Amino acid sequence: MAGKIKCISGPTVSVEMSGLKLYDRVYVGHAMLTGEVVRLEKDMAVVQIYEDTRGLGIGEPVKGVGMPLTVRLGPGLLSEMFDGLQRPLKRLKEDMGPFITGGKEIYAIDYMKNWRFHPLRKRGEDIKTGEILGYIEEGAFKHFIHSNRSGRIKWITDGDCSLNEAIGEVEDGSMLFGCHEWPVRMPRQYKRKLSPSEPLITGQRCIDFLFPIARGGTVIMPGGFGTGKTILEQSIAKFADVDIVVYVGCGERGNEMAELIDDFSNLTDPWTGRGLMERTILVVNTSNMPVAAREASIYTAVTMAEYYRDMGYHVLLLADSLSRWAEASREISSSLEEMPGEEGYPTYLASRLAGFFERAGVVETLSGKVGSLSMVLSVSPPGGDFTEPVTQACLRTAGAFLMLDTSLAHRRHFPAINWFQSYSLYAKEIIPNFKERVSSQWEELMHRCREILQREEALREVAEIVGIEGLQDADRLLMKASEMIRLEFLCQNAYTGDAFSPPEKTVSKIADIFKFYDNAEEKLKQGVHLDEVLKQ
Ligand SMILES: Nc1ncnc2c1ncn2[C@@H]1O[C@H](COP(=O)(O)OP(=O)(O)OP(=O)(O)O)[C@@H](O)[C@H]1O
Ligand SMILES: [Mg+2]
Repeated sequence: MAGKIKCISGPTVSVEMSGLKLYDRVYVGHAMLTGEVVRLEKDMAVVQIYEDTRGLGIGEPVKGVGMPLTVRLGPGLLSEMFDGLQRPLKRLKEDMGPFITGGKEIYAIDYMKNWRFHPLRKRGEDIKTGEILGYIEEGAFKHFIHSNRSGRIKWITDGDCSLNEAIGEVEDGSMLFGCHEWPVRMPRQYKRKLSPSEPLITGQRCIDFLFPIARGGTVIMPGGFGTGKTILEQSIAKFADVDIVVYVGCGERGNEMAELIDDFSNLTDPWTGRGLMERTILVVNTSNMPVAAREASIYTAVTMAEYYRDMGYHVLLLADSLSRWAEASREISSSLEEMPGEEGYPTYLASRLAGFFERAGVVETLSGKVGSLSMVLSVSPPGGDFTEPVTQACLRTAGAFLMLDTSLAHRRHFPAINWFQSYSLYAKEIIPNFKERVSSQWEELMHRCREILQREEALREVAEIVGIEGLQDADRLLMKASEMIRLEFLCQNAYTGDAFSPPEKTVSKIADIFKFYDNAEEKLKQGVHLDEVLKQ
């Protein structure tokens, strides 16, 4: 399939070409820039280009690939860093230096590398599509290879292989491979969805204790400028109790991404003691990279995350920030002259977002394993206004809402999660698990903590009128206890050893505060003066 460029308008190009399908991938111009067909009209197609279109000219050739935008899935993805189109950035840099120009195709997977394949099925056995053929050791993980065909196995390798050769064959002559391609916009298949029931421990006390999240859940963290979204996303990426982390830097600052890479290379996973990078995949589309590829980047990331979920792993996808993704779709939509919806966002914004959130969950995979894909996504509402369309659309579908509060951030209370406005719909399922695994008092302590914070709020209003000295001693003591909860328990500095708080530490910290409070109350009753009591 070949054609030529008729008209260019920024990243949107009209091409004269027949035989294309909607969402087909095309190579445009002599530079072979990657694009996607977004509209078809008779023999004309409108193509959205994912790279810089400077220097592109009318009449240059266009080549159809005959496939939609896909990612390559196979061993070797872990600890890599990709751009929004899944090009491996480290290898691109080795090839062309730090300034990457468009049109360079380097595969995400190294097809020449040798891997040791361990078969789990034998010759003569029947296999179905999606069942496990065997595994390859990818770092500390067993990278399970699923069959791409059904049939009786004619032969299967046991030993070294590279990914460009077959690892087996079924009797109808179809070859079995260790890697494959998958369209990014198509969710990967599974047998059935299960409801989330296991906790996803983040190591952040405020989240684990007050707003626990579930493996397979979806969490949004909207917050105005400087409320600590990036730091919280990165802390969760470092400390979350999951097997694999996929982190998308979506339209945010490049230096933050550079810091993240430095941090990850030096830190170890607190749950396994292995290098953090070994379990991480980074997808980078910072603010200076082409905006259209940003739209694709979250799909590239979620498809890789689903791929590891299909092996029975617990995967966490983090994106900072979803608003930049929505802005990218707004730019694309307006360059296509589509009818704008609220605040200029495309009318399909909410359904696109819902479709994306729907890819999270706990599933029984085609091979019968259970894997989960959780999402923690930050949202940056302009001016901190939560009524804007992206936050509202996310709120409708997300299972937990962690509202980052500008006034808390101004007081340097980090993480600035507002404990009155935030919620988690997973709490009911997750708390029994914490009660069983960590402490039977978990729920009781949590209710007490919330109650004290609420009573403090009410007392604060009274204190504003009568002054703190006008309050009764018991109330002043409660305010002291509440201050301890806020400053010693809910605040967690991301730059100290306290950045990670395992659930045992979380529960013992809050129990210590209550112990102090109970003792002090007892002393007050015995007639000890409040100042004396507070000194201890
Ligand atoms: N847990 C934390 N511990 C200590 N400091 C923090 C913490 N979280 C945030 N901060 C401080 O707040 C600053 C802003 O945080 P961050 O960059 O994460 O905000 P943001 O919401 O991502 O901002 P932007 O809207 O600009 O992207 C950080 O530079 C840091 O000084
Ligand atoms: Mg940020």
